[in-house]
Amino acid sequence: MTSTVAGTPSTRHTTVAPSGTGGQRGDGPADRDRPELRRTTGPYPHPMGDAAERWRERQLGRGIPDHVLRYAPADPWTHDPADFTPPAEPADTPSHRAARAIAERAAAWTCAGASVLDVGCGGGDAVFGAAWPEPSPVARVVGVDRQADMLAVFAAAARARDLPHGTVHGSWPDAAGDAGRHDVVVCHHVLHNVVDLPPFLAALSGAVRTRGGIGGVVVEMLTEHPLAWLDPLWERFHDVVRPPSATHDDAVAVLREQQGVAPEVLTWTRAARLPHDAAWVTRRLCLPADRVEEVAAALVDLPPRRTDAVTLTWSP
Ligand SMILES: C[S@@+](CC[C@H](N)C(=O)[O-])C[C@H]1O[C@@H](n2cnc3c(N)ncnc32)[C@H](O)[C@@H]1O
Repeated sequence: MTSTVAGTPSTRHTTVAPSGTGGQRGDGPADRDRPELRRTTGPYPHPMGDAAERWRERQLGRGIPDHVLRYAPADPWTHDPADFTPPAEPADTPSHRAARAIAERAAAWTCAGASVLDVGCGGGDAVFGAAWPEPSPVARVVGVDRQADMLAVFAAAARARDLPHGTVHGSWPDAAGDAGRHDVVVCHHVLHNVVDLPPFLAALSGAVRTRGGIGGVVVEMLTEHPLAWLDPLWERFHDVVRPPSATHDDAVAVLREQQGVAPEVLTWTRAARLPHDAAWVTRRLCLPADRVEEVAAALVDLPPRRTDAVTLTWSP
């Protein structure tokens, strides 16, 4: 059975936009078709180990079978930027606090503000959360995303906050060379889109500028794949049985295996953010809009989506 993993179709990096909008979008091959990603890159050139293989297998197990995808009336993966507009007053979360703490140390050491890179930035909730409240230690923010419309939201939010910013339109880690190095690298809710984790994590660590031993990465993710709660509906509507999801423990194991890093791991409960209404779920399940009522009825039987979040923090 061939399948495509949620979020896998990647966008080749094309344009660096130092400020404002991103560049052109072009379709690149899925990660699984790219043999160069079977090995890690950058400063951690180790072959893929057992933990990385486990992550990869579990992520491939989240795939949508081609016979389902072929008849999907709408793209089941693309995020609506409207769902990612950062709030004027960010939530006070462990991830925001962790990034801010590193930014404060960097700003104090350099006697200037810190620069923060947001990988898979969406509208920039991760980075603007670290820059809030004023007075902020953050002097510059750069967002990387493969969706140009997300970068437009990110840039508008930075302008509204009067924060110098840049955007890089492309797929991480391909886009890493254009993103530069920064005091803090944040990456929220992207890991479960990734099949080959080692090069992704290596590029996060590689993007950290360690000045005076300061600098770090803050990753936020859910404890399991964000769509795992819909697994019973895949079986019900498509007869597709999903294997267990990759977890944050699996991601930590890859980091240890590849970089010898033991991140600080903090588990907490976050507020649900994305819409989970029947129309949204219907699109995610590759079903036509005229089945929304059927999906709504099926959702009643499901346990509510879990909101266990994890913050991973490390210094490369
Ligand atoms: C679930 S959203 C999270 C957005 C934001 N980080 C937040 O927490 O609000 C995931 C974002 O990552 C982007 N993305 C996923 N994989 C990516 C990759 N390999 N490179 C760049 N962007 C990616 C998607 O386009 C999307 O905007």
